[in-house]
Amino acid sequence: MIEKLRDIFTVALIEAFGDELKDFSPLVVPATNPKFGDYQCNAALSLAKVLKKNPRAIAQTIVDTVKLNDSFEPLSIAGAGFVNITIKPEAIAKQIQSVHQDERVGVEKASVQQKIVVDFSSPNIAKEMHVGHLRSTIIGDSIARILEFRGHEVLRLNHVGDWGTQFGMLINYLRTEKPEVLTTANAVDIGDLVTLYKQAKAKFDRDAEFQEQARKEVVKLQNKDSESIKAWQLLCEQSRREFEIIYHLLNIKLTERGESFYNPFLPEIITILETENLLEKNQGANCVFLDGFVNKQGDPLPLIVQKTDGGYNYATTDLAAIRYRVNEDKTDKIIYVTDAGQANHFIQVFQVARKANLAPENVDLVHVSFGLVLGKDGTKIKTRSGETIRLKSLLDEAVNRTKQDLQNRIETEDRQETKEFINQVSQIVGLSAVKYADLSQNRTTDYRFSYEKMLDLKGNTAPYLLYAYVRVQGISRKGNIDLDNLSTEENIIFTDESELVLAKHILQLDYIIKELEKDLLPNRLCLYLFELSQKFNQFYDKCPILQAEEKVKISRLILADLTAKVMKLGLSLLGISVLERM
Ligand code: ARG
Repeated sequence: MIEKLRDIFTVALIEAFGDELKDFSPLVVPATNPKFGDYQCNAALSLAKVLKKNPRAIAQTIVDTVKLNDSFEPLSIAGAGFVNITIKPEAIAKQIQSVHQDERVGVEKASVQQKIVVDFSSPNIAKEMHVGHLRSTIIGDSIARILEFRGHEVLRLNHVGDWGTQFGMLINYLRTEKPEVLTTANAVDIGDLVTLYKQAKAKFDRDAEFQEQARKEVVKLQNKDSESIKAWQLLCEQSRREFEIIYHLLNIKLTERGESFYNPFLPEIITILETENLLEKNQGANCVFLDGFVNKQGDPLPLIVQKTDGGYNYATTDLAAIRYRVNEDKTDKIIYVTDAGQANHFIQVFQVARKANLAPENVDLVHVSFGLVLGKDGTKIKTRSGETIRLKSLLDEAVNRTKQDLQNRIETEDRQETKEFINQVSQIVGLSAVKYADLSQNRTTDYRFSYEKMLDLKGNTAPYLLYAYVRVQGISRKGNIDLDNLSTEENIIFTDESELVLAKHILQLDYIIKELEKDLLPNRLCLYLFELSQKFNQFYDKCPILQAEEKVKISRLILADLTAKVMKLGLSLLGISVLERM
């Protein structure tokens, strides 16, 4: 709808003001206040300066010129020169009917389907997967789901930190302290591995001889010494087992392609940078200097791509990964989901990739950044004793609290429920609550992790939205109605304002998803779904469904069913599955 309106208004602008407006955006957007209509055209205000005319006069010319069919009410002008556009209820009813018969509930596939890499989650071997990785996992998965639903081919890549000098240090430490870890599978729990890692690091920092041994160990590993490689593989497997638990719980699909995958391609990156005249030696290291990057003292800040000892850096691997994804994966777009702390890293890497022609201009490189996860009090999230929180226990706690709440509710409502029911519902609701709490925040800001807030049945939370879905299923159970086989012959009838408001909101889904594809802000979908359930609840309060006369009843059932379908789809794009009862 909005695209059609944009075309129609562009034609009118050209007709009224001449050909030079053919590239001018008609500025048609959803109305900011439903009182004024469904859409508004804001062109008159920005044209006022260009055409040196009064904006209201321009708005009048637009209204006189634009040719709309009979789906619309007559246009009106408000304020300084906004043109208000209102769709007739009959037209809304027709659209609702066609959307009701559409499997995709009105969401179009992208006209150009691309191949898109989403690089997300990406924890590090032998280190704990932390809340930052949790954010990346949840946001990345949702973005991937949205793009997939739009018809794009998405490659979900886990760029695991599985290589680097830290392995030399760790292997060397384990050789004396816990040698069995290096030779036997599953000899140690990830928690212990993290502790051992910290001990190794501490020793590395104070012991010069240990440092030297660790360096030799790195060289052995780089030279593919079979014993070293075996030890490294075992360490990776142990971490991987831990990551898998989290991915399984959260239902995340990822293809692991860790940093080590790109090892064979690192030397040629240096050669390419050299041929492109981008390489400079700085204190023995190979660097690329970019305009605008300076340190606190104002000195140029280089991007290091090869250390003095010949070792490569995080950035070098990312350059090789870009080259591989462009040349081998044939990707049109690469999306990186990491915390905002890596913003400069990506700006630099993207710039070098462009300059060195590793990524041509038509390949989009996008950093989707996010803020920190804070504790309830606004400081860094940690356990009571001040340790970093393990993701598994963080998720378990959400599930346990949900279970408590649910059991209390069951008791007060005097229901009989099986143990399986209680377990399944708490699992889904608890984990969905964690996902939704994260996704419903604008990702660029920090967010406070609060179980009370995310499990609140009344706020903008997963339980609240899941409940709206359950409500509709309850209606169909109560009235013995098969929602999948509602008559398609009946018309949609609007007898109350709340029905029309709900219907219009349902029809906005396509627009929201398209916007999301552009700005990659899942919180916009959350807000949309939250408003959907609010509008549904208003409708439900004012419009009896099962008691209504047959024609009205069917019309209302269709609205309820569509609400449920949109809710189910929307939540699935956030990685959340619905429940029939809760
Ligand atoms: N392993 C990194 C970290 O834990 C994230 C990797 C992100 N992806 C990338 N291609 N650099 O911070």
